Amino acid sequence: VLINELSGLRVLEMRLRENLSLSEVIIVPGDSDKEPWIKNEMGKAAAMRLKQELTGHHVIAVTGGTTTASVAEMMTPGTKDQDLLFVPARGGLGEKVENQANTICSTMAAKARGKYRLLHLPDQLSKETYLSLMEEPGVKEVMELIHSASIVIHGIGDAKTMANRRNSSSAVLEKLEREKAVAEAFGYYFNQKGEVVHRVRTIGLQLNDLKHSDFIMAVAGGSSKAEAIAAFMKHGPKKVLVTDEGAANKLLSGT
Ligand code: BG6
Repeated sequence: VLINELSGLRVLEMRLRENLSLSEVIIVPGDSDKEPWIKNEMGKAAAMRLKQELTGHHVIAVTGGTTTASVAEMMTPGTKDQDLLFVPARGGLGEKVENQANTICSTMAAKARGKYRLLHLPDQLSKETYLSLMEEPGVKEVMELIHSASIVIHGIGDAKTMANRRNSSSAVLEKLEREKAVAEAFGYYFNQKGEVVHRVRTIGLQLNDLKHSDFIMAVAGGSSKAEAIAAFMKHGPKKVLVTDEGAANKLLSGT
């Protein structure tokens, strides 16, 4: 039974990879919406896949979220030849401490026995503050590291869920509604076509910077995220997706 189940998943992975034109898809059994521990299984699968990339020197940028937090929990120490530096992909985006990129990045470094650098920034920045912070030597240094990241690990969220979780203003909520935002990643909100309809202004990796990274891994699952995953993946760059069966089935059934 187990063998049949696994080969069924491999077929699902292949179909989803073609469907979303990704380079690689990893699917864990179950639906993390129904069984929360499935998120740890996604975390474990992502950490294992990541490990294959981690020989030599790497700067690894990570976003916040409960899913990347479970990737961090599942990381294990690497070999001696590894020289890993973890950085948050972007500055404050209005998350609770345990779900912030900074926290996840330091956990990953501790578990993988690497180093880390953090960005200490307020959540919502005015344009003036943003521009003057960018001139701070300490910020500049971390920014350069972030831009040199060869590996990026990120979550994908449902637009409404993320906007509410960030206590966004009613003006932002209305805008997202009006623009029919369905997905969120890196502080950017996307409509069904994968077009950016809104973004949170903060320092760090911008969407365009992703084209410089060699390995980009999205970790997102649960049937409720199917639409968000499909929308974000239209935007490219198209890399590795770690998800669960719940999201995969819904994505492939197109409902
Ligand atoms: C946030 C990231 O911290 O987590 C978002 O800033 C991402 O870009 C979100 O979409 C995903 O959260 P979760 O808890 O669903 O993994």
